[in-house]
Amino acid sequence: TEPPIDEVIAAIAVDIPDFPEPGVVFRDLTPVFADAGAFRRVVEAIAGSVLEDPRVGALGAGPGDRGFDVVAGVEARGFLLASAVALAAGTGVVPVRKAGKLPRARVSADYALEYGTATLELHTDSVAPGQRVLLVDDVLATGGTLEAAAGLVEQVGGIVTAISVVVELPALGGRERLRPHTVHTLWTT
Ligand code: PRP
Ligand code: ADE
Repeated sequence: TEPPIDEVIAAIAVDIPDFPEPGVVFRDLTPVFADAGAFRRVVEAIAGSVLEDPRVGALGAGPGDRGFDVVAGVEARGFLLASAVALAAGTGVVPVRKAGKLPRARVSADYALEYGTATLELHTDSVAPGQRVLLVDDVLATGGTLEAAAGLVEQVGGIVTAISVVVELPALGGRERLRPHTVHTLWTT
């Protein structure tokens, strides 16, 4: 039998002290994504995460419905996950991008993350009104990034059905900040 997913991730991820600035312990998941078996486990766990959660059982999902209609990934590391999750789930994928990259009508949100500030954008027509969106990223630290991304999805009329990340750093309070959204995490450290 396979080891638990948190043990798989913990064994492969690498911690880098003082990157990208002093005081930050950077959780590098690139070796997890580079490992075929670990990547498959991570992607399948996220693709199935919505229906595994009893709190969202009330979504009324029918046969073959995973509880979301589209996957949104946050640039850049979220893209590696979101595309694969969408393929596994049989949905499309939409990008939440850093400022200045999207060519058509868009909404924007400024935010702060653990180490700096930035702006995220979403095409206004990339989520249809009432569409259920699974929002995906690699790391939940302060939650500033995913709070901004969720706000953009809602601004264009989407429903954030859940937020899924590979790693959560609970000391930084991201889960509390994202309330009342449902947050799924594969590894908490
Ligand atoms: C990282 C990470 C999350 C965010 C989490 O992205 O991939 O998106 O920070 O931090 P927070 O919870 O404090 O907001 P980063 O902005 O470094 O961009 P990248 O994906 O382009 O490397
Ligand atoms: N994004 C924000 N904080 C991070 C951390 N400690 N490691 C990796 N990515 C991050």
